[in-house]
Amino acid sequence: MHIVPIASGKGGVGKSMISANLAIALAEAGKEVILADLDLGASNLHIILGTTATPRGIGNFLSSPGTDITSIIYETDIHNLYFIPGDSEIPGLANITQRQKKMLTKKLLGLSCDYLILDLGAGSNVNILDYFLLSNRGIVVSAPMLTATLNAYLFIKNIVFKLMWESCPPKSPGRTYLESLKKDGTVLQKAHLPELIAQLRIRDADSHQMLKSRLDRFKPRLIMNMLEDPKDADRAQKIRRSCLDFLGIDLEHLGIIYRDDFQNIALNSRIPIVRYKPQSVLAQALYRIADKLISTEDEDETPLFDEEYYNDTYDVASTEAMMDFETKVDYVEELLSSGALTQGELIETIKLQQFEINQLKKENQLYKYKLTQAISQGFKV
Ligand SMILES: Nc1ncnc2c1ncn2[C@@H]1O[C@H](COP(=O)(O)OP(=O)(O)O)[C@@H](O)[C@H]1O
Ligand SMILES: [Mg+2]
Repeated sequence: MHIVPIASGKGGVGKSMISANLAIALAEAGKEVILADLDLGASNLHIILGTTATPRGIGNFLSSPGTDITSIIYETDIHNLYFIPGDSEIPGLANITQRQKKMLTKKLLGLSCDYLILDLGAGSNVNILDYFLLSNRGIVVSAPMLTATLNAYLFIKNIVFKLMWESCPPKSPGRTYLESLKKDGTVLQKAHLPELIAQLRIRDADSHQMLKSRLDRFKPRLIMNMLEDPKDADRAQKIRRSCLDFLGIDLEHLGIIYRDDFQNIALNSRIPIVRYKPQSVLAQALYRIADKLISTEDEDETPLFDEEYYNDTYDVASTEAMMDFETKVDYVEELLSSGALTQGELIETIKLQQFEINQLKKENQLYKYKLTQAISQGFKV
């Protein structure tokens, strides 16, 4: 069973849209898929999937010990696709107890299917990190906006620190060292990871070995969603560089997805986009990612890829960004020439974009202001 956790540093970047549609694309390709909504407290997968209300979900399962997990696995209208609904009654994955987490994890790992897709909540809560680490090849979703890319990097950073912590058993010299750093307040947060690892190697060879072997197998993957322009694809390189320079982790690029108004229409119609408009640029991008998942499904346990492999994944993503953009432009031209899109509507769209640009400008000014303030208070850039 391939476990595919889907996470993000920031909310609203498209995790659930991607989880649902990838699950369908994989099921259509003949894989048996279970899709679980683990974004407790903000569950919305059922809306994207368009399923009818289900009486019980994960919340119910967690609050009544002894419940058989199969009783909350529902068949869907899509052949091969099964769904475990979340629960909006439960305050969030962050709030479940250690015991509940252990029980749920055990039951999830005991399931049998080709793909188990986990739609996780946003952020770096320890429970989310744990579910993300059920696979070495979890997917991080980002959008091109600065806050989203920054949070994607921070998410991976938190994962790496968690791996480091876990690799040092309690009372080991490594753990004692990390604890001494932690006492120093922000030292651990600001620490340069490759240096920390070098220190660990000197102080605690066993823990260092354990950490190294876990980092070697950790191969997170990135999806960049909500592109507006081919240049947005460069944002992925920024996340990659930060991960490489500060964490020593290379990030595979699984693919880009443009922002597409069809998604809104699909959502309102309660039909997933790959079913609503399979030929759309958006649905095609999702199918492309599903194909990549299938074509690399045997590589879960192989050691770290070489740099060339990672470089290729970014080149491919840039090409995809260009290709999809051309398809989108062709489509708009076709709509204009056939009269389906009026000039008035085009003007509306431009106005809307202008508004978004202005919002971004304001955000930019705010960041500049905060940075100037921080510098004046003695923070070194
Ligand atoms: N590529 C896209 N184009 C247009 N809208 C999108 C796209 N991806 C996601 N959305 C929309 O953005 C909103 C947030 O997506 P969602 O999947 O719920 O994010 P998350 O699960 O990360 O919080 C939803 O309304 C969704 O329909
Ligand atoms: Mg979601």
